[in-house]
Amino acid sequence: MPKNDPRDPHWTDQGQGLPLVFVHGFPLSRGSWQPQVDDLSSSFRIIAPDLPGFGGRQATPAVGTMDSFADDVASLLAELDTEPVVLAGHSMGGYIALAFARRHPELLRGLVLVATRSGRDTDEAAAGRRETAEKVRAGGIEAVVEAMVPKMLASVNRDSESLAAIRGLMMSSSRDGVTGALLGMADRPDSTPGLSEIAVPTLVVTGADDEVMAPAESAALAAAIRGSRLEVIPDAGHMVAWEQPAAFSLALRDWLGDVE
Ligand code: MLT
Repeated sequence: MPKNDPRDPHWTDQGQGLPLVFVHGFPLSRGSWQPQVDDLSSSFRIIAPDLPGFGGRQATPAVGTMDSFADDVASLLAELDTEPVVLAGHSMGGYIALAFARRHPELLRGLVLVATRSGRDTDEAAAGRRETAEKVRAGGIEAVVEAMVPKMLASVNRDSESLAAIRGLMMSSSRDGVTGALLGMADRPDSTPGLSEIAVPTLVVTGADDEVMAPAESAALAAAIRGSRLEVIPDAGHMVAWEQPAAFSLALRDWLGDVE
């Protein structure tokens, strides 16, 4: 079904068993989790939504707050009538996962925080995002995408095919989706004080060579979340689960063995 077909539900729901929900980063789509859908749906129920404004899905609010994205995921889970889920979030998806943990703890069985952090933006970083949002509004998403693509991968994984695949995922984002999420990320609160309240099993994953989100951010998350496990995956950058799907699956399956 073409991505802009109104009958496209904008989520993947494949397999049976414990529901694992995968929330994509910025400015990506559920397609970034395809290796996990392929590998894990024989053992688990894999649910992966496109967030509003991404992957060909229409954007709704002018500011895509992390809370609104978390509520959007919760509505989908209600629609799909799931039992409590293990929620994995990549980067911006991790900001959303932390908002979800705050707002919908009853829907949560476990958390997987991938290449993300709990802190808010510095004032300077937030101002930079607002400026970028203005540029995107005026000129489209291409310049932002071109600037981001190479940084997403570890230098050892920057072959032309992989760069084209990441570009393709990003170019399915809409102008409104990108501006809304930039403004939403700029406004997001500090989730650090809530980390000590997280009561579900948590896995924190980072690529050893992430140039977008320092691996130290993941180490800090793992140190602050009681009983969590930290996995540092070699030869992987910001797209750690996409770059090293076998190592990511191994880490996830091993950790899930303790959750189930
Ligand atoms: C992402 O990959 O989701 C973004 O790099 C997150 C961010 O810009 O803070």
